[in-house]
Amino acid sequence: MPEDNISGVVITFFSTASSVGKTLIGVNMASELARQGYRVCLVDYDLQFGDVANYLHIQVERSVKDVLETMNSRPDVPLQDCLTQYRYGMISFDVVPAPEFLDEAYNISADDCRRLIEKLRLLYDYVIIDTT
Ligand SMILES: Nc1ncnc2c1ncn2[C@@H]1O[C@H](COP(=O)(O)OP(=O)(O)OP(=O)(O)O)[C@@H](O)[C@H]1O
Ligand SMILES: [Mg+2]
Repeated sequence: MPEDNISGVVITFFSTASSVGKTLIGVNMASELARQGYRVCLVDYDLQFGDVANYLHIQVERSVKDVLETMNSRPDVPLQDCLTQYRYGMISFDVVPAPEFLDEAYNISADDCRRLIEKLRLLYDYVIIDTT
């Protein structure tokens, strides 16, 4: 169960083929870990065609683009304030949705993506990453 000093487990779903169920498994794993009481963040790093927000039926107000911009320009802002909360019954976890527009994906650097995961690991028991 959650403890104060977190170095969260990072689980990445990747495949060389599309439509094999990465997103479906990622979303369900995040939900089940949250149901068990763990602090969970689900990150959509399928930057061009991410559909985590669609799967969860959540409105994207702050995508990964906005989260990274805040991380870089406003280090004083707590990261969790930039994330999107998903709630369904007793289940609750945070989400970093993919960019809303295709061109936004091209301006996101790999280094920024890595730094975000390093920061999220300090805040969550599990960081689940969906990829392209
Ligand atoms: N275990 C499963 N049983 C039945 N249908 C599934 C299963 N896993 C996924 N699907 C269906 O397959 C399709 C693709 O699933 P999903 O979006 O999770 O794949 P993906 O690997 O994330 O695809 P992409 O590479 O496009 O992101 C969806 O329509 C989903 O409902
Ligand atoms: Mg997918």
